Amino acid sequence: MILVTGGAGFIGGNFVLDWLQRSEEAVLNVDKLTYAGNLRTLKSLEGNPLHWFARVDINDRPALDVLFARHAPRAVVHFAAESHVDRSIHGPAPFVQTNVVGTFTLLEAVRAYWSCLGADARTAFRFLHVSTDEVFGSLSPDDPQFCEMTPYAPNSPYSATKAASDHLVRAYHHTYGLPTVTIHCSNNYGPYHFPEKLIPLTIIRALAGEPLPVYGDGQNVRDWLYVRDHCSAIRKVLSHGAPGQTYNVGGWNEKTNIEVVQAVCDLLDVLNPKASGSYRDLIAFVADRPGHDRRYAIDARKIEDELGWKPAETFDSGLKKTVQWYLNNQDWVNEVQSGEYRKWVEVNYTQRA
Ligand code: NAD
Ligand code: TYD
Repeated sequence: MILVTGGAGFIGGNFVLDWLQRSEEAVLNVDKLTYAGNLRTLKSLEGNPLHWFARVDINDRPALDVLFARHAPRAVVHFAAESHVDRSIHGPAPFVQTNVVGTFTLLEAVRAYWSCLGADARTAFRFLHVSTDEVFGSLSPDDPQFCEMTPYAPNSPYSATKAASDHLVRAYHHTYGLPTVTIHCSNNYGPYHFPEKLIPLTIIRALAGEPLPVYGDGQNVRDWLYVRDHCSAIRKVLSHGAPGQTYNVGGWNEKTNIEVVQAVCDLLDVLNPKASGSYRDLIAFVADRPGHDRRYAIDARKIEDELGWKPAETFDSGLKKTVQWYLNNQDWVNEVQSGEYRKWVEVNYTQRA
């Protein structure tokens, strides 16, 4: 079996669903279930003997040791993290705890387990670390996209803690020989995305007739990747990636934030027309995020040239699927809009108006 951390979150949840649609190999899903973890995402797996769920914090070394001893995974895919930049600005401590200390604790548990495997199993083992393009910092409009050799320059508490975890993973390969692979991925979007992030936030607020907050001048650029394309890249790197290597994964979809929000509005105008006017009428420019990175863009040629991976979705096709998914899955949306979520909206948006 494989062990997945953070498999009740957005990307991890999509990965587990995708994996079990394509594979007979079991998944041990290790997740603390923070505000971002949601077992409802995995509802279709209820009763599936190939899905094992353990509510465990990656900071809990004894619990991790028990899971490794009991289930003997052949690989770890590490998604678990605090993942929202705005939350890291309001309160960085949980980011240090989970992204740095938690990854360290997990690596130590993996090292102890892996060191005791037989020679063939040690060679075949993989620790796949899911990182982000944000560790490379911010690009100017004319800069080349991030490649695997781009120097680290993290700017937010979130990206700084992800960078720290990347360095630990790198060190465990170089020092102990742990067979690690790391993916630097651009902004994901798709089903089951927690509505604190731009695209689901825009869809849900538009449907509720609420203002659509765009930070600053709306000209910040992100490189959007449909989440199922990220899942296929992870499967590819897990099966064919070379130990010690890093791979940049992106969708070749650079868009300004205002373009993204307008595209969501235009899709909603077609799929769920308002009684009068356009959803674009709801767009509201608000105070910028402190230290807001201007542009992220991924050069994904290495994974294409070496492993033959390319995204299947264009931004248009992926966004249409995403908007349609939110329209069809109001129950999931209602469930995540808990008291905690409403509190976050108050903390992050009241002072920006
Ligand atoms: P998410 O916030 O939706 O989910 C994170 C999951 O990790 C949740 O299920 C949460 O309960 C779990 N978790 C948090 N702390 C934990 C802990 N201490 N122990 C065990 N589980 C814990 O995040 P996501 O968007 O799915 O991102 C997954 C990974 O991909 C993260 O490592 C993130 O840095 C990386 N990434 C995300 C994006 C993106 O656009 N979302 C882009 C690039 C990289
Ligand atoms: P987000 O989804 O938080 O991802 P990240 O900060 O990791 O890239 O934000 C994507 C972009 O959208 C980012 O430039 C910030 C911007 N943004 C807004 O303009 N308004 C919002 O309400 C949010 C949440 C984000």
